[in-house]
Amino acid sequence: MFKLYFVSVILLLFTVAEAQFRPGGPNRFGPPRPGGSRQGGGGPGGPPPFGFQPRPGLPGPGPRPPGPIPPGPIPPPLQPPVPRPPPVPRPPPVQPPPTPQPQPQPQLDNLRLCTFTEVAQNKCLYTLQAAANASIDLKLQCVQNSSFAACLSAIQTSAADLVVADDHDYKAARAANLTTVLYAHESLTDYYVAVAPSNITLIELEEAAIDVNVSNHRAFDAAAFFNLQRGHDICRQSARDTVTIQIVNTAEYNATGDELLICANRSVAEWSDYSTCNVEASLERAVFAAKPLAANAGFRCLVQSTFDRILNSFGPASTIWNFFADFQNTTDVIFKNNTIGFSQSPIIRNGVTEQLFSQLHCNNLTAHDSSELE
Ligand SMILES: *[C@@H]1O[C@H](CO)[C@@H](O)[C@H](O)[C@H]1NC(C)=O
Ligand SMILES: *[C@@H]1O[C@H](CO)[C@@H](O)[C@H](O)[C@H]1NC(C)=O
Ligand SMILES: *[C@@H]1O[C@H](CO)[C@@H](O)[C@H](O)[C@H]1NC(C)=O
Ligand SMILES: *[C@@H]1O[C@H](CO)[C@@H](O)[C@H](O)[C@H]1NC(C)=O
Ligand SMILES: *[C@@H]1O[C@H](CO)[C@@H](O)[C@H](O)[C@H]1NC(C)=O
Ligand SMILES: *[C@@H]1O[C@H](CO)[C@@H](O)[C@H](O)[C@H]1NC(C)=O
Ligand SMILES: *[C@@H]1O[C@H](CO)[C@@H](O)[C@H](O)[C@H]1NC(C)=O
Ligand SMILES: *[C@@H]1O[C@H](CO)[C@@H](O)[C@H](O)[C@H]1NC(C)=O
Ligand SMILES: *[C@@H]1O[C@H](CO)[C@@H](O)[C@H](O)[C@H]1NC(C)=O
Ligand SMILES: *[C@@H]1O[C@H](CO)[C@@H](O)[C@H](O)[C@H]1NC(C)=O
Repeated sequence: MFKLYFVSVILLLFTVAEAQFRPGGPNRFGPPRPGGSRQGGGGPGGPPPFGFQPRPGLPGPGPRPPGPIPPGPIPPPLQPPVPRPPPVPRPPPVQPPPTPQPQPQPQLDNLRLCTFTEVAQNKCLYTLQAAANASIDLKLQCVQNSSFAACLSAIQTSAADLVVADDHDYKAARAANLTTVLYAHESLTDYYVAVAPSNITLIELEEAAIDVNVSNHRAFDAAAFFNLQRGHDICRQSARDTVTIQIVNTAEYNATGDELLICANRSVAEWSDYSTCNVEASLERAVFAAKPLAANAGFRCLVQSTFDRILNSFGPASTIWNFFADFQNTTDVIFKNNTIGFSQSPIIRNGVTEQLFSQLHCNNLTAHDSSELE
């Protein structure tokens, strides 16, 4: 009885060992390790592959940047080949890729804000200094990169946590798998409006050519939005014009007595109604982060409380310093100078959502093709 039991056990062990160390067996890359059951290349029975591709920590272009490595899953170094007794040909063992933790670990200590201009980096650093001087606990760090795209890479590789995007940068941030965690609400005092002669007819209103400074992005977007509302192809030339509708900024233009505002819905209004009858199509600045981090409510709360604290301590009313004012003679550094609050959902102006905004462009390569606007 016991003999039979031992014989079975020994036979079983032998069978297992045979299966494990036979070429092509499941253990051909080395001794079993926790988490090492990942599939490698090379089909069953095929030639053994030379090793796994090293896996970057996160999907995204480029290798992990050198320098200060943020906390997070760090790929273990490759193991040197270990000589082993069984005389079966084997490729050098390779450490399995890092176990796919819920990557990256939420950073709840310091938010690393990526800046991509010199003046923004200076402003960020100045903010930290001003906070330290005033004993304000700001969980913020400043990381500088050379461009918005470089900041996107830095976030993908967990070298940074946050970047502030303006409306034309949303699309690239989305394409890099980032998502919004905070919106900066702005109080508009000037608006882009559509101005037409007061004797304009309904038909002319639908057909009139647009006169706009296409070099100004905000003006261009307003004009494109107005055309979209009229059902026009925003990028196709049409009219030999008898009448034009001008897209102007209320801070730079005074309507004459025989001019009217055309609202986005093509009703007309007096000039004085520009705060409700305008064709503003810009989006708020938004703070973007990597999706896995952004999925963490604690992280989103930290982002909100950090920027709320900046607004409360260094807002326009601050006796210490106004974070939102011009910095080194530059306006709208990091956020717009008219920022009045932060929240996790956007304020939509004139029904211009991020999705609608993304249609206000003539091609996919450049934000604007100034040669074409009817
Ligand atoms: C912080 O304090 C130091 C030393 O008093 C001073 O030199 C510096 O200008 C201050 N910085 C800010 C941003 O207030
Ligand atoms: C961004 O900046 C960090 C810190 O300065 C640097 O380590 C990283 O290589 C930069 N990344 C890119 C994509 O430029
Ligand atoms: C974004 O995520 C999707 C699916 O999660 C993936 O297929 C795609 O390659 C990612 N894009 C970038 C730029 O990382
Ligand atoms: C509108 O008024 C302008 C002059 O103010 C005039 O030249 C134009 O012919 C008028 N258009 C119509 C349709 O009456
Ligand atoms: C058009 O807009 C650009 C960019 O805002 C500005 O520099 C330029 O002065 C504007 N041109 C006119 C004629 O207003
Ligand atoms: C518009 O009118 C106001 C007051 O009448 C004047 O102060 C301002 O300079 C004018 N603006 C322009 C661009 O003409
Ligand atoms: C068109 O828009 C204006 C300004 O927003 C609004 O006052 C008006 O009621 C709208 N008219 C219609 C018919 O919806
Ligand atoms: C800002 O502009 C003013 C006047 O144009 C100039 O005197 C000053 O040196 C500038 N400051 C900086 C930091 O560039
Ligand atoms: C913001 O900057 C713009 C353009 O430089 C300026 O016209 C406006 O007065 C500034 N607003 C505030 C609140 O500082
Ligand atoms: C622009 O991109 C959209 C979707 O990203 C695509 O459907 C469209 O065909 C592109 N247009 C051009 C001109 O490449």
